[in-house]
Amino acid sequence: MLDINKIRNDFPMIKNNPDLIYFDSSATSFKPQCVIDAVNHYYTHDNSNVHRGDYYLSYKVSKAYEDCRKTIADFINAEDVRSIVYTNGSTSALNLLAYGYGRKYLTKGDVILLTYTEHASNILPWFNVAKETGALIKYIPLNDDGTFNLDKYIDCFTDAVKVVSLPYISNVLGYVYPAKEIIRIAHEHNAIVSLDGAQAVPHIRVDVKDLDVDFLSFSSHKMLGPSGVGALYGKYELLEKMDPLYYGGDSNARFDKEGNVILKKVPYIFESGTPCIEGILGLNAAIQYLNEIGMDNIEEYDKELTLYFIDKLSQLDNVTIYNKKTTTGIISFNLNGIFAQDAASYFSSKGIAVRSGNHCAKILHNVIGVNETIRASLYLYNTKEEIDRFIEIIKDTTIEKCVESVL
Ligand SMILES: Cc1ncc(COP(=O)(O)O)c(C=O)c1O
Repeated sequence: MLDINKIRNDFPMIKNNPDLIYFDSSATSFKPQCVIDAVNHYYTHDNSNVHRGDYYLSYKVSKAYEDCRKTIADFINAEDVRSIVYTNGSTSALNLLAYGYGRKYLTKGDVILLTYTEHASNILPWFNVAKETGALIKYIPLNDDGTFNLDKYIDCFTDAVKVVSLPYISNVLGYVYPAKEIIRIAHEHNAIVSLDGAQAVPHIRVDVKDLDVDFLSFSSHKMLGPSGVGALYGKYELLEKMDPLYYGGDSNARFDKEGNVILKKVPYIFESGTPCIEGILGLNAAIQYLNEIGMDNIEEYDKELTLYFIDKLSQLDNVTIYNKKTTTGIISFNLNGIFAQDAASYFSSKGIAVRSGNHCAKILHNVIGVNETIRASLYLYNTKEEIDRFIEIIKDTTIEKCVESVL
């Protein structure tokens, strides 16, 4: 059970915006005070670079920065801290994987399996890699409601399939894909699996060891941490085979004027340049906060709120819901006859923050039949009272009011 009053007190954004109902946590989450304090502490007490200074402050910060690798590894149950590569977020993790692994190992005719639910960040890098290598992109057919169909997935396999890259949770439909089975089947066919965990890692317990997943990407800012950081988890032996995306300071051991370069080992080989130190320290605090509350409690609470929301929304006859089976806090819907963006602007005038549009999943209309939806995304600090207030507003929404609010 969550202590919702305590949780809400931990988030300054909630205290400072008493009239705002924030239902856009899948875009980015609010940050608890402990995360803000960690960032603030770094700048006010410990400001120095990592891995570079031969003085106490730099050692201290380097240690705290490296300790976060262990915090992340434990959080996703990775055995080896060297499997955690710091990145700028999911997008940079997915690009590192596509270019560092895909470009190096894929050849003409190899197949990359994706779905129509991909976020742009898990499709555009693969498009480029396919163009460069002659590999082919193929889409795994989903059920009509967007849920995953293991039989159709199995039918996609030929010897040419080398990479399967999927969201663990879709950012528009919120469905949790059966990752363990997906990975087992891919491995039986000698393909590797990359899970885009941007929406999963903040909301459900992710266990890379149990899943036996090859790669997992995620972003700090969606899981209560600062923006600008995230991670790529990879099996060490696969990371070791990959090329870095960037070259520069800190990722090399030595080089000479003839161009002989010795790069550092995994994970440092992928981490050129001064990183977002405060972001990593903040992410460390965010994970500790999530751990204190417990990922199982968060998942259960997300589910309770989501089912409540779907139940209330289903009772309205001016609404179409696109993901009625969701449990993870993401609800996509439309008000019949009203453009998603017009409705979102009207909701904003009533103090509700939701997202509208295609949510960067620009080919998902091939599954749900519409280009644009309203997406409400909930997290551990939201309440049923907020949902009730939103439902009353939706009930009262007309096309005239929406158009007026846009003018
Ligand atoms: C499923 C999914 N993948 C990738 C991303 C990209 O994350 P970021 O913008 O933090 O790199 C997002 C962001 O919304 C997402 O929802």
